[in-house]
Amino acid sequence: MTEARAFSVQRFDSAQEAEAAVLRLIGEAVTEALGLRGQAVICGAGGSTPKPVYERLSTLDLEWDKVMLTQVDERFVPEDDERSNSKMMREAVSGVPGLRFLSLIQDADLAQSAQKAEDALRALGDGAAPEFDITLLGMGGDAHYASIFPGHEINATVYDTGRIVLPVEATDGTREPVWPRLTLSVSALNRSRRIVLYITGDAKLKALEEALANPDRDTAPIGAFLQQYPHTVDIVWAAQSAFRKV
Ligand code: 6PG
Repeated sequence: MTEARAFSVQRFDSAQEAEAAVLRLIGEAVTEALGLRGQAVICGAGGSTPKPVYERLSTLDLEWDKVMLTQVDERFVPEDDERSNSKMMREAVSGVPGLRFLSLIQDADLAQSAQKAEDALRALGDGAAPEFDITLLGMGGDAHYASIFPGHEINATVYDTGRIVLPVEATDGTREPVWPRLTLSVSALNRSRRIVLYITGDAKLKALEEALANPDRDTAPIGAFLQQYPHTVDIVWAAQSAFRKV
C-alpha cells in the first residue's frame, strides 16, 4: 500500500481573499510559461465558484494574446444556454485582451464533439496531448470533479484511456450528471504542470477531507484523482462562497 499523499489547504475567511490567492497562482504559472515557452495554456473548471476568478483575470498584467483558456469539462448544452460553462467563461473573460478560448463544444453530436475537441487540444501540443500550465479544478459536494461523478460508469475507464476528451452520458435523471457532458480524462489532467483546487464552504471541505482519507475511484473521485496526480496541487478554500450574502 503506497503512503497516502498529504495535502495542505490554504484557508481564507472570504471568497475575495481566496480568489486573490488563486489569481496569484495563475499569474505565477502563466508568467513562467511565457518566459520558458512563449505561450501558456490554462485549463479551467466550470460551475459557479471559479467565475469571479475568470472575471478578475484582466487584473493580471500578462501577455494575454499568448494565452489560451480551455475547459476541464462542459455541459453538453447549447453555448447560449444558461447552464453552459462556455457561456459563463466567455462572458467572464470578455475583458481580457487577446485571451483565446477553446470550448469543448465542437459539434452537435456528443461523441463527435469529444473527438473534435480532442483534435483541437492535440493541435495545441503538436499532436501530443497538451501540457496545461495550470489547471483550475472545482469539486462538488459529492466529491466529483470535472464531469467525473461518483457511481458513474466513467470511473471504470477514465484512468486507463489514452483519450484526452471523453463523452459522458447522462444518467436516468435520478442522479448527476443529469445532462450529457464532456470531460478531460485523468491522463489529460495529469499533464497539468500544476493544479489549483478551489472550493468554498464547510460542506465541500469536509467532503474533500473524507475523499482524501478514502480515495476510492468510484465513491470519491476527487480523492482518487489527487492521490495519483504526480505534480503540485494547491488547495484553496474560502469559508464563504462569493455567492452567499451574509
Ligand atoms: C460543472 C463543473 C463541476 C464543478 C463542480 C463545482 O460543470 O459543474 O465542471 O465539476 O467544478 O460541480 O461547481 P460549483 O463551483 O458551481 O459548486
